[in-house]
Amino acid sequence: MSRHLTLLNAVKKLEMPSLGLGTYLMKGSEGRLAVDKALFYGYRHIDTARRYDNEDDVGDVVQAKVRHGALKRADLFITTKIPSVYFAPADVKASLEESLEALKTPYVDMLLLHYPWGNKNRGDGIHLPVNAQGERELENYDLNKTWTAMEKVVDSGKALAIGMSNFSIRLMEGIWQNARIKPANLQCECHVYLQQQNLLRYCKSRNMVMTAYAPFGAPGLPKRAPNEPFPLEDAIVKNVAKKHKRSAGQVLLRHMLQRNIVVIPKSSSEKRIRENIEVYNFELDESDMQNLNKLDRNLKLFPFEWAKRHPLYMPGEEF
Ligand SMILES: NC(=O)c1ccc[n+]([C@@H]2O[C@H](COP(=O)([O-])OP(=O)(O)OC[C@H]3O[C@@H](n4cnc5c(N)ncnc54)[C@H](OP(=O)(O)O)[C@@H]3O)[C@@H](O)[C@H]2O)c1
Repeated sequence: MSRHLTLLNAVKKLEMPSLGLGTYLMKGSEGRLAVDKALFYGYRHIDTARRYDNEDDVGDVVQAKVRHGALKRADLFITTKIPSVYFAPADVKASLEESLEALKTPYVDMLLLHYPWGNKNRGDGIHLPVNAQGERELENYDLNKTWTAMEKVVDSGKALAIGMSNFSIRLMEGIWQNARIKPANLQCECHVYLQQQNLLRYCKSRNMVMTAYAPFGAPGLPKRAPNEPFPLEDAIVKNVAKKHKRSAGQVLLRHMLQRNIVVIPKSSSEKRIRENIEVYNFELDESDMQNLNKLDRNLKLFPFEWAKRHPLYMPGEEF
């Protein structure tokens, strides 16, 4: 199995490593250590976002490795995301420039719109603005104009490819129809309990690569519904793992990779960072894949409750 997927909609030839380090909820020394270990064990793809408040940490480690000659910037694939407070066209470029400064790099490989539901830019640097009633302050941006601003950052060389996260097929298609530079990547929640068959089919039809976030079902999420099942503890997953003498985590990642989906598992443990990239030297057979495919149960762990009041949120749509 190849360790890369080709981004067919990138303007210049671009390969995306099929496994990257997720960095949500990891910052400061914890984040820096995790990125450092990940690069040591062979990760070449790091997923961050302005919203994670750790671009500086990622940038510190990358800069040090490049300066010491341990790596070349061109060997790395860095993804970051535009928070939805910055969807006004002029703000897109400014947000990316702040990301680049923090990441200490002249460009990112992938720039994503973090989610489609705009938030109000109050001009105070707050990415998740909330009003006095405790409700998220929403804004309805014209996503086609936002996308035109994304295309301009590709023209400027500051992002090599562009895409989106948490978009439904309807919203992606709205952009697709009007785009000069087509989206190359969709990042969405995807794991064995939410296999996103329809989104994957759509992405394939549009030559887009799909990236699975929360590939373990985000066991570290602070708020979880009672009795919510954990993919890592699933009996079928454990059986497949036993058969291949692998961990449940490795089986969950391999299942996605064999579906041609990029995975970005997060870990701050050196042992698990290493374990999570050791997934290229075994293969799930057809019966394993079928058994894992049957576990799909539409379990949405990131429902974005606050977005339900936004005009672009359509009940029942998959994203
Ligand atoms: N675009 C978006 O809206 C969005 C939303 C969510 C996530 N993401 C991205 O996707 C990445 C991954 O998602 P996620 O962090 O939510 O969830 P995840 O990768 O499914 O799960 C991470 C959790 O699993 C644990 N873990 C890691 N490797 C393990 C293993 N081999 N066995 C058992 N447990 C293991 C980690 O604990 P330890 O750290 O202790 O190992 C951590 O608590 C994020 O970090 C972020 O980069 C994007």
